[in-house]
Order: sequence, then C-alpha cells, then structure tokens
Amino acid sequence: MNKRFLLLSGWVMIILLIACTPDEKIKEVTPPPETELKRIEDIKIGFSMDTLQEDRWFKDRNLFVEAAEKAGVKVEVTVANGDDVKQVWQTEKMISEGIDVLVVVPHNAESMAAIVERAHDAGIKVLSYDRLVRNAEVDLYLSYDNEKIGILQATAMTALVPKGNYVYLGGADTDYNAHLMKQGVFKVLKPYIDRGDITVVFNQWTKDWVPEVAKTNMKTALEVNNQQVDAVIAGNDATAGAAIEALAAHNLAGSVPVAGQDADLAGVKRIVEGTQNLTMYKSIDDLSERAVELAIKLAMGEEIQEDRTINNGKINVPSILLPPVPVNLTNIKETVIADGFHEEKDIYQ
Ligand code: BGC
Repeated sequence: MNKRFLLLSGWVMIILLIACTPDEKIKEVTPPPETELKRIEDIKIGFSMDTLQEDRWFKDRNLFVEAAEKAGVKVEVTVANGDDVKQVWQTEKMISEGIDVLVVVPHNAESMAAIVERAHDAGIKVLSYDRLVRNAEVDLYLSYDNEKIGILQATAMTALVPKGNYVYLGGADTDYNAHLMKQGVFKVLKPYIDRGDITVVFNQWTKDWVPEVAKTNMKTALEVNNQQVDAVIAGNDATAGAAIEALAAHNLAGSVPVAGQDADLAGVKRIVEGTQNLTMYKSIDDLSERAVELAIKLAMGEEIQEDRTINNGKINVPSILLPPVPVNLTNIKETVIADGFHEEKDIYQ
C-alpha cells in the first residue's frame, strides 16, 4: 500500500514538474525588453559632424535637430571642423557624459573606428551618417548611394562628350564616399577608355574637399594638357565651382561640360548660367528624418530592416542607401524647387 502510494505520488510530482517547467522557462529566458526600459523622451542622440563647410551640412544639422525635436528626443551636435583629433575628443566626451546612440559623419573614415569601439564598450550603437566609418563594427550606415552618384555623373557626361579628354577631380581621399563615387565613374568610363574614345588626362583627389585645392588641380590639368580638356567630373559642387573658375581663366567656362553633386544653390545657379551641366540632388530632409527615426530604433534596441550590406574593411555593414537624383537644366523645377530645397527666386535672381 505504502509502496503504491509512493509510486503514485512520484508520478504526480513528475507530472506537476512537467506542467510547471514551460512557464518557469519562459520566466527565466525572457528578460524585460529594452524598449520598456527606455522612454522616448529619455533618449539622447549624439550627432558628431565633420564640417559645416558646404551648404548641405548646415541643412543636415538644422534638419536633424528639427527632426529630433519633432520626435521628442534630445540631441547634442558637435562639429569638428575637419580635425580628426577634435572629432574623436568631442565624441568621447559625448559618450562619457551620456548619450543613448551615436550618429557620426566621419571626417576621416579610418580615424573614427576607435570611437565605434569606445561607444560599443559603453553599450551605445553607432549609425554612420552619409559617410561610412571604415574598419569598425558600425551598426548601421545610412547614406545616398555614392557609387550610383558616380555612375550617373559619368553616364550624363559620356552622353554629352562620348569622345575626348576627361579630367577627374575626386573628393577627399580620407572620405570613403569619394572612393565609392570614383568607382562608379570609372565603371562607366572603362569601356570608353578601353576603346580609346576617352582619355582621362588628369585624375586627382582633393585634399579635405577644399575648393582651392581643386582649383589648383584644375589649373595644372589645363596647363599640362595645353587646355585640351573636353569634360570635367568633380566630386561635389564646391569643387566643380572651383574647377569652373580655373576654366574661366582660360575662357573655357561654359564650353567644357562640368558635373558636380549636392545641388548646392551656387551649383544650381551655375547650371542656369550654363557653366555647369549637372549636379546630384540628395534630399537632406529625407536623409536627416530617416536618420533620426533609425537612431531612435537603435537606441531602443529595435530590429532594423536594412536594404543591403556594404563592406567597410571589417564587416558587412547593414546599409540603407537612398537614391540620388541627377539635376540639369531640364528638371530644376521638378526637383530642387518642387521639394523646397531651393527657392525659385534664389536660383533665378
Ligand atoms: C558628401 C558630399 C559633400 C562632401 C564634402 C561627401 O562625403 O557626400 O555631399 O559635398 O562630403 O563635404
């Protein structure tokens, strides 16, 4: 009798244990989601910028702050003015004083790798904004498709000038965007070069994207080629403008097609004047709004659906790349004016 009772109670215990296990397991393995720990109004974004040199970066800063305020999160912005040491120092300070997510536009793609590690040590995720940080475990890269920018520049220029001498004025060697753009340009030019239709007679980076450097390079390009230059592709509108000044000194502004990017007001005005043929419009509204939305997701530990990955030398970085829009004399109204990027009166005054 006792034996039967013991056996029966043993079975009851086992059944109870089995019945209890799943619930207990769920309790054990499911920590409270991080989203419950962070309220949106407690989130602080650190936005580390390289420069405010070009028009666009003012827009980036202002629209980013506006979008953050609209979303109800706090934001601290630092600007390094092209100084790597300063950018590292400013970012370290933000990390140690307490931010929940870091958004960074690196001046130097390589130098900011250490900061990504520092942020991760502090449990802070990093979003590479517009420019990719190289050789670091960046959590997300949000930009315009820089290779596509190069492809679109070269496609438009080869349609205008299918044969002749090309000058390529790249961006800053330290900015990975400049490399991606160059890759795109030469992908398109290659068959023309191979056929002997196009010769790239000058090909240089522009240190720190400084327009004066681009102007000096353009002067040299004209001198060493006895002014036999048929097309110029520049990394951005500021360097395109500098190249046009050098062309103007030889009365060539307007007769040699020039491509840039950014849809800077000065660039769009030159398109209207006829000294520049092409720029690339990248809506900074879209970029900054998207960046704030994604930064909040990163801070809250939410999943992000990336479009693709881009290798940064260390990992395949989850990336979201927005499409650039080529702008020439035919579509200024439908693009930059329609979007409110520039006002019609400012362009045509
Ligand atoms: C950006 C351009 C900008 C350039 C110089 C690049 O990384 O993509 O829009 O003109 O930097 O600041």
